Amino acid sequence: MIMKKENKLEKIVSLCKRRGFIFPGSEIYGGLSGFYDYGPLGTELKFNIKQEWWKSIVRIRDDVVGVDATIIMNPKVWEATEHLEAGYSDTLVECKKCHQRFKADEFEGICENCGGKEFTEPRHFVTMFKTFVGPAEDSASTAYLRPETTAGIMVNFKNILDSTRIKIPFGIAQIGKSFRNEINPKDYIFRIREFEQMELEYFVKPGEDEKYFKEWVDSRFRWYQSLGLKNIRKREQSKEERAHYSAATTDIEYEFQFGWKEIEGIANRTDFDLKAHSKHSGQDLSYIESESGEKFIPYVIEPSAGVERLALAFLCDAYIEEKERVVLRLHPKLAPYKVAVFPLLANKPELVEKARGVYAGLKKDFVVAWDDRGNIGKRYYSQDEIGTPWCVTIDHQTLEDDTVTVRDRDTMKQGRIKILELKNYFSAHLGETSP
Ligand code: GAP
Repeated sequence: MIMKKENKLEKIVSLCKRRGFIFPGSEIYGGLSGFYDYGPLGTELKFNIKQEWWKSIVRIRDDVVGVDATIIMNPKVWEATEHLEAGYSDTLVECKKCHQRFKADEFEGICENCGGKEFTEPRHFVTMFKTFVGPAEDSASTAYLRPETTAGIMVNFKNILDSTRIKIPFGIAQIGKSFRNEINPKDYIFRIREFEQMELEYFVKPGEDEKYFKEWVDSRFRWYQSLGLKNIRKREQSKEERAHYSAATTDIEYEFQFGWKEIEGIANRTDFDLKAHSKHSGQDLSYIESESGEKFIPYVIEPSAGVERLALAFLCDAYIEEKERVVLRLHPKLAPYKVAVFPLLANKPELVEKARGVYAGLKKDFVVAWDDRGNIGKRYYSQDEIGTPWCVTIDHQTLEDDTVTVRDRDTMKQGRIKILELKNYFSAHLGETSP
């Protein structure tokens, strides 16, 4: 099969729907632009991405702790950091013919929907979703859904200092939902309105920020490489592109079919947030260095990535059409199922029973699929298409010597392994990534 580049994304969209990775949100009611749901396999994929991130950022380090803050926060939070004016607002223009809206900075003078050439004047638009806390719908009860998880970390800076023994340099990490009322959601799950972010705020002594900024850019780049992601590069943002709080930002970009695009941004947020929150809350958010007694407001290095955007990059990178099969060459750590177990013949009770035993045993340690439909070749291809790295078949020889065949997704080679050794075999192949 020769794959036309322009069809690749469409094919991925179709596979994701057909096999239960990604569905349009509220699809039976015609969907809702910029919102997607995740099926059984997409949920596992997202979970694995988050787990690998959390392991490398929090679990294996001594200098980073986690937090889980609320989505709706006191609206003063957003006033303090100028989110409503500078950060999370956009300028939009509208096509006069079909009323499609575009971000003014991405607008190319011609409507990509209907070819129209007449547009409204640029209009300021706040991209934070508004809601009300309590029964009254007035300005006093107006609140916002967070557009980034950062603020939940910043407002807990003091709580974490007071409740742990952590010392600068240290980080606070958070994974959680963020919401942006994007003017023009597009490119499947690349730009959506509800998504999950994985963010780290790494607090450092002013003057040491540039060193740690470089370290985090390199460390984050290596994380993608350790999970097998190809077609990535680093790109420094120009002063004009940078967010209002940032002194330097480097993006990690992936080459999608629709161009090189940011999948993660690493920013030097300086002391912008803590200073602003100190001023507006009246709380002293400075840090006192125990050895020197020096008091300062820390600088912050922030690696920030979106789970769905990463999922899309990993899916696009993994999707390969070969002569006789479609295969998702996902890194085994990211693959939704690690192993699939098959009885060679579904109508031989002794094979099915033995296979059920192997399946139940492996399920204690891995996410495992069961398949007894059709012939073995079809079952292999069905697992290849969803990225399952290994297929285990229980055949007649198994009943004699307790060995099974293990077939590798990428090489398609098979070997015989003792049932008792399967757990160690898969665990070894799933060895740890280094950040
Ligand atoms: N706290 C910094 C921050 O939020 P950002 O560059 O706006 O920075 C960081 O977002 C990451 O969040 C992006 O690199 C992307 O992976 C993800 N992201 C942002 N907006 C998104 C959207 N509308 N849809 C999907 N992912 C998004």
